[in-house]
Parts: sequence; C-alpha cells; structure tokens
Amino acid sequence: MKLPPRPAEPGELIPTDYFQRLTPAELFTTQAPLEVDLGCGDGALALGLARQFPERNFLAVERLLGRVRKVCRRATNGGLQNLRVLRLEARYTVEWLLPHSSVSRLHLLFPDPWPKARHHRRRLVQGQFLLAVHQVLVPGGEFLFKTDDEDYFEWAQTELSLFNRFEALSWKEEDFPYPQTDFEARWRTEGREVFQLRVRKPG
Ligand SMILES: C[S@@+](CC[C@H](N)C(=O)[O-])C[C@H]1O[C@@H](n2cnc3c(N)ncnc32)[C@H](O)[C@@H]1O
Repeated sequence: MKLPPRPAEPGELIPTDYFQRLTPAELFTTQAPLEVDLGCGDGALALGLARQFPERNFLAVERLLGRVRKVCRRATNGGLQNLRVLRLEARYTVEWLLPHSSVSRLHLLFPDPWPKARHHRRRLVQGQFLLAVHQVLVPGGEFLFKTDDEDYFEWAQTELSLFNRFEALSWKEEDFPYPQTDFEARWRTEGREVFQLRVRKPG
C-alpha cells in the first residue's frame, strides 16, 4: 500500500526528488551563503545563527520528525525566512543531495560517537564522508565539528589528516558568535570537556 506523502511543515524542505541533487533555487529562493547544521537536534545552533545572520541561509538536517517539527515551529514563530529544515539522514544529505560547491559552513555538533570498536565504521567522520564534505563546500568553506567523546575527536583528527585536503583553522570562543546548544551547555555544566575542530577547504 502506498502511503500519501506527509504534508511539509511550514519552513520544512521536502525535496521533489530524493535521487537528484538539490538545486540552489530549490533550497532557498534568495541566494546567500549557505550553512548546514547536521543532526540539529532542538535546533539551538541553526536558530541562533539564523537570527544573528539574516544575510545567510541555514539548512538544519535532522532525522527525528518530532525535532524537525519543533525547529520548524520555532523558526516560523521567530519569523525566520532564512532557515529551512530537512528531515533526512545526515550522511545521505551530504553525499547525495547537497549541490557541490554550495556550502560555506558545515556544522556537525555532537554526532553519535559509536564508542564500541565494532561500531566505529558507523562514525560519520571518515574518508567517504569527508570527500563528500569537501565536494559540497565552496572554496574557502569550513567544516566545524564538536564532540564530547575524546576518542571520537582523536579519530576525527586522524581521518582528517589521512584525507589531507583541508587546512586546520584555530577556533577560539571570541573568533565569531557561536550559540551554545542545550546539549553542550548540559555537558559543560557537568564539568566535562568539549573537543572541537575547524578546518577549511583551500580557496
Ligand atoms: C546528541 S544530539 C546533538 C544535537 C545538536 N547537534 C546539539 O548539539 O544540540 C544528536 C542529534 O543528531 C540526530 N541524528 C543522529 N544521527 C543522525 C543521522 N544519521 N542523520 C540525521 N540526524 C541524526 C539525533 O536525532 C539528534 O537530534
């Protein structure tokens, strides 16, 4: 039995074709630098950035429908025209849907660390994914990553150096406004460390 398509939430992006790359026009009608938040959760980062930078566009990607609906509701209530939400798997979005050379910043905050060795191959940050990140970034575009898991952080550093096509950038708190997510705030309140890295596709 074929189910009828789910109607889009206000502010939600439902691609017309999941087997073709999106066009910039399908993403946003107004052309502007694009930032993508993968696994946006409650959307604190994407919502906060969209408010602070109305001259940029933001795509929040999340697989859980409840969270997608919540972020859409907050964006609509806040009158944010520059934020859209895509309900889709993060890796698929980067590898198959985002247009090449379209993203100025790609954020990946607190993805699942898959701590067991036999699950490491499920970690997002590794060769094939990094190649796709490199392809979707514009020259000079950045990939920003945070994790609470030291082992995953070291893994990500190793994968990035093996991939060897990004330049490392420093990332201090005062460099630019970067809203803290609830997840990070909770983690820091417990006195735990957050590991972060920022790299750039050479321009
Ligand atoms: C630990 S939470 C972090 C949320 C947010 N980035 C933050 O910092 O608050 C991870 C989020 O990523 C989503 N997620 C996990 N795996 C995903 C995947 N493969 N594709 C899309 N979203 C995913 C989860 O549903 C969850 O909302």
